[in-house]
Amino acid sequence: MFIYPKVFRRLKRGPQVILPKDIGIIIAYSDIDKNSVCVDAGTGSGWLAASLARICKQVTSYDIRDDFLEIAKKNKEMLGLDNLVLKKGDVFKKIEEKNVDLVTLDMPNPEKALKNVKKALKKGGTVVSYLPNVEQVKKYVERLQKLGFTDIYTVEVIVRDLLVRKEGTRPTNKGLWHTGYITFAHL
Ligand SMILES: C[S@@+](CC[C@H](N)C(=O)[O-])C[C@H]1O[C@@H](n2cnc3c(N)ncnc32)[C@H](O)[C@@H]1O
Repeated sequence: MFIYPKVFRRLKRGPQVILPKDIGIIIAYSDIDKNSVCVDAGTGSGWLAASLARICKQVTSYDIRDDFLEIAKKNKEMLGLDNLVLKKGDVFKKIEEKNVDLVTLDMPNPEKALKNVKKALKKGGTVVSYLPNVEQVKKYVERLQKLGFTDIYTVEVIVRDLLVRKEGTRPTNKGLWHTGYITFAHL
């Protein structure tokens, strides 16, 4: 099943995760590479954090819950990601890292973290949020605008599976539709 590439099938899962189809666009549109330094929050099961750490130089991922950090730790160890630092902390209160290339926010009310994101990001850096509802996106985007972020861009990724058969090729009648809206912005 391609919606769960091999590495993801080995990962433990606690709270709702960001799926590979959405992680793909986050990585592609964030301009990150082997020299990038990132901050991620909330860690949750660490699916996004681990995916970023497989590509970037350093990823620090924050969560307020010990039980979720424990799940993410198991995934980190299983993948041998020494460049992934898991931290207990509330990003609404503080982000310790400075001059980072990317901050990802996957939690309710991510706008509450934006002042701290501004302090953590380097000029031109990217902030990405992942939100399930349009009303949340609207509130978040208004806050981005107020704080002077630029290039604000929201997308939804819909993957349409195709059934390829001798007797007729067409989209399947099942599929994974809505997961979340992804908003990108630059500082
Ligand atoms: C949906 S989960 C994140 C899933 C994760 N992105 C993944 O791919 O596995 C949301 C997480 O945000 C955490 N969280 C909520 N508010 C937070 C805050 N203010 N600072 C840090 N983490 C927070 C929650 O404890 C929860 O683990």
